[in-house]
Amino acid sequence: MLDIVILAAGKGSRMYSSLPKVLHPLAGRPLLQHVLDTAQQLEPDSEPVMVVGHGAAHLQEVFANRDCRWVEQEEQLGTGHAVLQALPLLRPQARCLILYGDVPLIAVDTLRQLCADVDVNSLGLLTVTLDNPTGYGRILRNESGEVTGIVEHKDASATERSINEVNTGIMVVNVEHLQRWLPALSADNQQGEYYLTDIIAMAHQQGVAIKTTQPAAAFEVEGINNRLQQASLEREYQRRLAHQLMLQGVAIADPERFDCRGQLQAGTDVFIDINVIIEGEVILGNNTTIGANTLLKDCVIGNDCQIKPNTIIEGAQLADAVEVGPFARLRPGANLADKVRVGNFVEIKKSHIGIGSKINHLSYIGDCQMGAQVNIGAGSITCNYDGVNKHITRIDDKVFVGSNTALVAPVSVACGTTIAAGSVITQDTQENDLAVARSRQRNISNWPRPQKNP
Ligand code: UD1
Ligand code: CA
Repeated sequence: MLDIVILAAGKGSRMYSSLPKVLHPLAGRPLLQHVLDTAQQLEPDSEPVMVVGHGAAHLQEVFANRDCRWVEQEEQLGTGHAVLQALPLLRPQARCLILYGDVPLIAVDTLRQLCADVDVNSLGLLTVTLDNPTGYGRILRNESGEVTGIVEHKDASATERSINEVNTGIMVVNVEHLQRWLPALSADNQQGEYYLTDIIAMAHQQGVAIKTTQPAAAFEVEGINNRLQQASLEREYQRRLAHQLMLQGVAIADPERFDCRGQLQAGTDVFIDINVIIEGEVILGNNTTIGANTLLKDCVIGNDCQIKPNTIIEGAQLADAVEVGPFARLRPGANLADKVRVGNFVEIKKSHIGIGSKINHLSYIGDCQMGAQVNIGAGSITCNYDGVNKHITRIDDKVFVGSNTALVAPVSVACGTTIAAGSVITQDTQENDLAVARSRQRNISNWPRPQKNP
């Protein structure tokens, strides 16, 4: 039986933020969500208990649809006091795993190892050895190497401070022990807090063996207290993910300049240039290239596509052999068929663009049903909004739209129509029409230019 308690009541004053610390993001997800996701991978047979204080209402709102229970610690009187608040929700026969909401990258394998063969006669403590242990609780051991207690940095003597093995705060302990030990804690220490760490000495004194485990990598147990630590763990996360993707065959120009804040699924021979940001769920087909400084969010891009630099694609679907960018923006509902080309300073939203159609320069296409082999000249736009409602523009196959055309929706342009440059199209056309909707040019011979007044 496993119960899980996640401590997240702290304010995080060193973030200097109005957002509760555990809601700050890492890889696009709140810190607390990382911990909760990891906790749930352990398949506990009860919902994790979140101990919250600062920003409790905000946290409950953000995680409203998650399976977890909430306990409020009104005053933050220490880690021992925090776990004490959760105690009434814990099952006496269960083992309790204690996690920190601001330690986001703890690995599930490390936790499995920590929990392995901890029973009523033992307690599992996750420790780590650091070159610079300043600030952490130090692990005290006797001559036989048994853990006898933890001393907090602020309470430690000079000799104790020279110990490099520190407490990560993460531990697994039987609930029935917690029921005896937690109410017995005192706040008689430098910080006037009820230290959870004091239960270690109690365990030792009562003959409960303390088994220590160390994480595979030190970053797993790093906490986030300020924005510097947040950025450093973010990089660690991104580096690991980039390495993993590269080992699966994705070519990433520079793993130090790669940011995935969601899920990326990539085919074979995908190339991702520098400073690409992935958000939400992104799927890339085989042989597809993503240019530098591109943002991809919740989109599906097919095989053999080329996304050129400085492009933003969000909520769009691209078939095969599509070329987009540089400097293009595809918004939600942009649906591009095979071999479509979209060039610089083109914005497309909620539109289907048929096979092989080209929109190469400076256009806005919104609420448009476009057929195949259409050519949209530079600077042409759909006027889809009348100030109140949105309307559809239909452009059938093989239409040629001259530059700087305004298509005033609702309007239908029939197959094979040619639209003269500079037209404002307000009427439907018939197949193979030439539509000219601009004033005729007049040339005035030998016109005297105005002269500057003397
Ligand atoms: C704690 C440990 C220390 C360990 C370090 C690892 C204690 C007494 N000390 O110290 O041995 O080396 O973590 O990072 O446990 N929290 C609450 N309510 C409280 C106090 C804290 O929910 O009343 C939460 C915080 O939000 C945070 C976690 O518990 O997520 C740790 O609290 P923090 O104050 O950072 O503990 P440290 O002093 O760093
Ligand atoms: Ca801390």
